[in-house]
Amino acid sequence: MTSNDPLLKPTAPELLFDRERAANYDQFTGRIPGLRDTMLHFLGAVMADLPADSRILCVGVGTGNELIFLAKLYPDWTFVGIDPSEPMMNICRTKVAEAGLADRCELHTGYLDSLALDRGFDAATCLLVSHFLMETSERQELFANIAKHLKPGGMLVSADLATAIDTPAYRALTAPWFRLLLPPEATQKDFENARSAHGTAVALLDPVEVESLIQSAGFTQPVRLYQCLLIHGWVSYQLAPAD
Ligand SMILES: C[S@@+](CC[C@H](N)C(=O)[O-])C[C@H]1O[C@@H](n2cnc3c(N)ncnc32)[C@H](O)[C@@H]1O
Repeated sequence: MTSNDPLLKPTAPELLFDRERAANYDQFTGRIPGLRDTMLHFLGAVMADLPADSRILCVGVGTGNELIFLAKLYPDWTFVGIDPSEPMMNICRTKVAEAGLADRCELHTGYLDSLALDRGFDAATCLLVSHFLMETSERQELFANIAKHLKPGGMLVSADLATAIDTPAYRALTAPWFRLLLPPEATQKDFENARSAHGTAVALLDPVEVESLIQSAGFTQPVRLYQCLLIHGWVSYQLAPAD
């Protein structure tokens, strides 16, 4: 991470996840052994009772990890993946094709409001996306938009970095977080740079605040199903059509 790194200042997501960050993303997220796999296994298990022919919306699908995992686990489900970053979507498209899943997956480059509204999704995922929206109102709008795409009572599984900065919990969790996430050769400066993205390009709220934000966007009280250091994951259900 350099001082020009887009993670050090509020940046549009399609610029934040540029070609270089996209190319390194899977390797980067694989640095904490088991983190991604555990999150995906929880995701698969919590969605297991959905109908066999479910339609799933993957918001901020990135390089496609959750979509590909679920598509392999549930062979009759169909998927729409959406993400504003062209480089992330290019990798996603390649991985989906290589996995032989292209006929069950539609991939759109863009924001959610560019997707036609059909209220036809049984469930949505939104993993590690909303914390990039620095304004709480934008985060709430993202979740409210997801609610509009779901069938009544549809499921949302979401995950975000959450823990308010400058609290004892934050201090306890960030040291191991960066120790595991940054490469072994990382310098003190790299640690400081990575830390300074928190609050400038990544919004870190207390998990309870994230929960009330999701709820205020038209969902039931989210149930926390996962925590690994700063990452928290929830399941909640759309309360009613959000017109
Ligand atoms: C950290 S990656 C997560 C990718 C994937 N969900 C995963 O867990 O591996 C965040 C992704 O969210 C996308 N993103 C950021 N803001 C978004 C928004 N407002 N709507 C949809 N996607 C967004 C970024 O382009 C990026 O691909």
